Amino acid sequence: MAQSRRDFLGMVFGGFAAAGGLAALYAMKRTWDPLPSVMAAGFTTVDLSPMKPGEFRTVTWRGKPIFILRKDHTDLKICEDQDVKVGEGDYLVRIGLCTHLGCIPAWEPDKKIFKCACHGGEFDACGVNIFGPPPRPFDIPPFKIEGTKLVIGEEGPEYKKLVGKA
Ligand code: FES
Repeated sequence: MAQSRRDFLGMVFGGFAAAGGLAALYAMKRTWDPLPSVMAAGFTTVDLSPMKPGEFRTVTWRGKPIFILRKDHTDLKICEDQDVKVGEGDYLVRIGLCTHLGCIPAWEPDKKIFKCACHGGEFDACGVNIFGPPPRPFDIPPFKIEGTKLVIGEEGPEYKKLVGKA
């Protein structure tokens, strides 16, 4: 009898201890989580002024690759309605994920295309799918322009115009 009572008390206190542990974990998780404003901020700012004509760069925004290709003063196709003008430069700015199944294509400057190694998809210098299984052009990340800087993560007027929202 005494044994089973002790077992019972042990279980009760054990339960309290487990609940207390969970509460402590929850409190810690709340402390570790970034503040909502920080998560909502999620910007990547890139100064484009050092980029030379023909230069290609990949930056990261919210864990995604963002392709930036400077095209003015080169023989790369300028895509009037689809490029981003920053200062004197003309840039392709796209989310660098293949629209087929999400692989990251590679820029091939000799052929002037983006080639996806997964299933052979190809995109031209305007980000348009030109061969293989990708069903649509690259997606455009939200951005705004501040002087020579591209701020990825906020919908500025240039972005809205580009995607036909303005
Ligand atoms: S994921 Fe790019 S072609 Fe399939």
